[in-house]
Amino acid sequence: MTNWDGLRQAAIDAMKHAYVPYSGFPVGAAGLAEDGQIYSGCNVENAGYGVTLCAECGMISDLVKSGGGKLVAFLCVNGDEDLTSPCGRCRQLLWEHGTSTTKIQLPEGIISLPELLPYGFGLDDLNKVERKIGD
Ligand code: THU
Repeated sequence: MTNWDGLRQAAIDAMKHAYVPYSGFPVGAAGLAEDGQIYSGCNVENAGYGVTLCAECGMISDLVKSGGGKLVAFLCVNGDEDLTSPCGRCRQLLWEHGTSTTKIQLPEGIISLPELLPYGFGLDDLNKVERKIGD
């Protein structure tokens, strides 16, 4: 059974550290990984708006740095501590570090990663062609 409450609390704790002087919209992301640990992140905005790091970026960096493995479960929260939906770009980040059984908790309920990002692009797609690197 996934400890969704623990995951939610980790996301809330992370959200409170968000740096959001431009949008005023803090986000906290939390993921449970195969190693049983929870990884988290907050959004970090920038005066160059497009450079902004979503909360999921920090969470994925935390996960990869620690070698926790694939994501088992994920959620993110807004400044009201309510569940919110990961943006399209971050769905791709989750895809790279999740599996077909990774569970995502949304305001609408719990779904799988392939339901969140149908026909997602990944390493399998890259490997369908012979790539010439460094030519
Ligand atoms: N944001 C995230 O951190 N994650 C998402 O999945 C959606 C959007 C942030 C980016 C920006 O700092 C703020 O929310 C408003 O878009």
